[in-house]
Amino acid sequence: MKKKVLLMGASGSGKTSMRSLIFSNNPASLTSRLGATIDVEQNHVRFLGDLILNLWDCGGQDAFMDTYLSTQRATIFQHVGVLIYVFDVGAHERTQDLSYFRDCLDALRKYSPDARVFLLLHKMDLVALSDRPAMLARRREELEGESSGQGVSATVFGTSIYDESLYKAWSRIVHAIIPNAAVLTKHLTTFAEACSATEVILFERTTFLVIATSSLQFPPFASPKNGAVVGNGGELTTPSAAETLHALDGTRYERTSELIKALKHSCSRLREEFSALEMELPECTAVLSEMTRNTYVLVIVHDPTIETAAIRINIRLARSKFE
Ligand code: GTP
Repeated sequence: MKKKVLLMGASGSGKTSMRSLIFSNNPASLTSRLGATIDVEQNHVRFLGDLILNLWDCGGQDAFMDTYLSTQRATIFQHVGVLIYVFDVGAHERTQDLSYFRDCLDALRKYSPDARVFLLLHKMDLVALSDRPAMLARRREELEGESSGQGVSATVFGTSIYDESLYKAWSRIVHAIIPNAAVLTKHLTTFAEACSATEVILFERTTFLVIATSSLQFPPFASPKNGAVVGNGGELTTPSAAETLHALDGTRYERTSELIKALKHSCSRLREEFSALEMELPECTAVLSEMTRNTYVLVIVHDPTIETAAIRINIRLARSKFE
């Protein structure tokens, strides 16, 4: 199955940079060397067995945009599965940007009315941290209004190549494309229960984007020795599932993607291939290992009586379910 993904937006908004980070394992620091994209650069990325992403990175200079919207209109906008439109938050020329955006939505509605639309407010790192939530809310409202005015429902994300926000947005995008995402979540939840794991996360192999996570059913593992906390009265109590889950960082999935990508990059600089990772920390054990030809799995266990070897065996035994 092939899905066409259009990556559009003004020149310099950061389309090729994000593509090179997500799909080519390049660090953010190298993106300043990228030249402007001439016309359209097409790539095929094999994603999860049969799914192939056909990525169209459309150079954003006005001359190219004008051609996409005139002579190449049908070629560009037909058979689109997903449109990702990138807006540079620091751009001064917003009127022109919005005008091209409206024209693109118009063409999309005609040639690919069922396409999903994602809008990225990119380079959020240029906005002061304290101003980001308000700025994102304001621009989200504006862009959602523009989209619904064209009869299109769009999802807006704030992103930057310098933090995990880009992984969050792209993970959500690929999640929307994967046909069997719900089945994967179900299998992962069963697998997490079988391993007495706190959480299990499935990543795509090349991009390390999050494909699915076990739905958070905490196993009743906590014992006073493990994860015990002191209650108000000084007595030992164990944290409830809800409390422990609440304590987990909301950005943990995309942070993991970002960190593993950085590790893979360091490995490649040393001419070593990254294959697996195991960590035994005082509070938990983490095993990251190949699951199938196209995926990696991360198993997090808080029960100290569970050996990493047992987790590895479980991963091996579960492999066929995820092929
Ligand atoms: P065209 O190919 O002309 O359409 O441009 P493009 O949208 O592909 O832009 P490109 O990826 O070449 O990025 C332009 C510049 O933006 C580069 O210097 C990048 O380093 C920079 N850039 C990309 N993403 C970010 C980001 O999240 N934050 C900041 N501050 N700069 C970024």
